[in-house]
Amino acid sequence: YPLPIGPVLEPKLFYQPEASGDAPIDYYEVEVKPTERQIYPHLGKTQMVAYNGHSPGPIFKMERGREAVVRFTNNGPYDMSVHVHGQYNRAPFDGWAADYANPGQYKDYYYPNSQNARTAWFHDHTEFTTGENAYRGQEGLYIITDEEERSLNLPKDRHDIPLAIAAKFYNEDGSLNFDTNNSAGLWGDVIQVNGQPWPYLEVEPRKYRLRMLNGAVSRAFNLYFGEDSVNEDGDYVVGNTEDLEFDVIGADAGLLSHPVKTKNLEITMGERYELIADFEGFAGKNLTLKNKGGMGEGPDYAATDMVMRIVVGEGVTDDTNNGPIPSTLRTIKPGPEQDEPNKSFGFERIDDHWVINGVGFTDIEHRILRRPERGRDEIWEFHNGEGRGGGTHPVHIHLVDFQILSRTGGRNQVRPYEGAGFKDVVWLNSGEKIRVVARYAPWNGVYMFHCHNLIHEDNDMMVGFNVTNLEN
Ligand code: C2O
Ligand code: CU
Repeated sequence: YPLPIGPVLEPKLFYQPEASGDAPIDYYEVEVKPTERQIYPHLGKTQMVAYNGHSPGPIFKMERGREAVVRFTNNGPYDMSVHVHGQYNRAPFDGWAADYANPGQYKDYYYPNSQNARTAWFHDHTEFTTGENAYRGQEGLYIITDEEERSLNLPKDRHDIPLAIAAKFYNEDGSLNFDTNNSAGLWGDVIQVNGQPWPYLEVEPRKYRLRMLNGAVSRAFNLYFGEDSVNEDGDYVVGNTEDLEFDVIGADAGLLSHPVKTKNLEITMGERYELIADFEGFAGKNLTLKNKGGMGEGPDYAATDMVMRIVVGEGVTDDTNNGPIPSTLRTIKPGPEQDEPNKSFGFERIDDHWVINGVGFTDIEHRILRRPERGRDEIWEFHNGEGRGGGTHPVHIHLVDFQILSRTGGRNQVRPYEGAGFKDVVWLNSGEKIRVVARYAPWNGVYMFHCHNLIHEDNDMMVGFNVTNLEN
């Protein structure tokens, strides 16, 4: 089946501020509601609960500098808390896990949209049920664009493709299987892109911008493009070598400083990467976006080594923005030379309880682990695997964009594409120690940080930090 794309959400109306020259504030409405879709033709329909009934949700396209208010109405059967992952929201509108709207209620969220262009996303963040709510449909893309990005003439419109990747289990009646018996993860044996299992995308032999999100609950991917072929017996053979070198141009928090060439890309839960793939040399051929597997502790199943197929046409009908990729994409200052941490956080499992420095989100009295002064840079260290370790953890800090300074142990290196820009998730593999630097700004308030394996998160691997005024 073809890759579904969209729809893009349109604002209901906008408020024009009195002061002339100020951009209007857009107002959107989104309804969380039960929906069903025929995903497998020979199985029953799949029940989901999704934003406006779309899974993944409709796409927000925001212009930098244009604020928005979104009313999310909860017409689903469970509580709802909405988090836009990847922009600095004021704390009351950041989807705090214990601040949920019950069925039948709505909540208005204010979004500043004042950061640089980036591929953010939004998903449910309700305490204990984030994983299940996201799994059953509540996640979608939230794209911010700006002038600076447009001036680079990157592929756009139908050459700018969102790929929201997820992994699911289905029951024989077509319903989603959310098996909560394993507190280590829910890995899924069906790989979906934009809601469709193993879809295909028809492209022209030219450059495309691909915006990848790993929206899976627990499965990490190591992706590459293999060229398919037909063997002597006439059988179709899915490519299994890294046949396409591509440029990574963006990460979680927008464009990298420069394009990073690679043939494979690790992407763990909550991460986004944007790449430019040039299909010019593949006219009339098929490529398969493959997954190397063996990532983290996630088991691989029969077809989890495949993600989607790219069907490359014979000719180019539209050559706009198909030129060379600029060698400088954005000015990014390197992180500090010294990387002594202000605070260190250990990620560990104690029986079925996943905790950070021994604390989980249910430990209300102790769960604020750090009080950064607003406007200051802090270096945080994450470590895993000392004694009571286990598991691998995509660590996500709300509010801030960070730079990865170092990774020691385990893979023992910062990947060039994760080091060349700003991130909001970093994958802490077993035995690793990672240091990141961020400026705790612009708002005061209590925010979450947590593991983005949503099963770990719902089993308590989430804590808070409180940004406070600088002392003077
Ligand atoms: Cu993607 Cu705290 O979330
Ligand atoms: Cu984890």
